[in-house]
Amino acid sequence: MASIGIIYGSSTGNTRDVCRKLQLMLGRETADLLDVADATPADFDRYRNLILAVSTWGAGDLQDDWEEFYPDLDEVDFSGKRVAVLALGDQQHYGDAFCDCVPLLVDKVTERGGTVVGFTEPEGYNYIASRAERDGKLLGLILDEDNQADQTDARLKRWIPRLRKAFAG
Ligand SMILES: Cc1cc2nc3c(=O)[nH]c(=O)nc-3n(C[C@H](O)[C@H](O)[C@H](O)COP(=O)(O)O)c2cc1C
Repeated sequence: MASIGIIYGSSTGNTRDVCRKLQLMLGRETADLLDVADATPADFDRYRNLILAVSTWGAGDLQDDWEEFYPDLDEVDFSGKRVAVLALGDQQHYGDAFCDCVPLLVDKVTERGGTVVGFTEPEGYNYIASRAERDGKLLGLILDEDNQADQTDARLKRWIPRLRKAFAG
């Protein structure tokens, strides 16, 4: 069975497409892909390592399917799990709320006993403010398909070895 579960929510397909790419890069035998719209808390229990992928809507809100699932996260025991967050946003049009939904997932996972991994550096972005940034780090991999799609592959490629290491540890 795959050791990594990629669980994503996507309204217009951007996050889904990025996650399909990520799954191929990690290997289908290593990573399963699930839409959070079809997920149950039991799906989270199946994986020691999780990648939670979300896009940002409203003004810094979780994507709709994640928002709907959010109360169910209280039924997931994250203890012993390593969890990375991948988030999509638009730093040009939502520059003061760029990927602001990220801490909602990060803090919930931490509160429920999980270890959040896969932090990245904030260099190369042009946002004004983002709640995804804390203590000089981004709390996951942050992608912008609206303005920096040309950087997505390189960002994924840099993230994967870091993830593999964190998931192996
Ligand atoms: C109505 C609307 C609201 C949005 N709100 C935000 C936001 O608050 N912060 C942000 O970083 N991006 C925001 N975005 C950008 C989306 O997160 C971005 O387009 C993302 O790639 C969509 O991914 P998806 O197709 O997987 O849902 C918004 C986009 C729309 C259309």
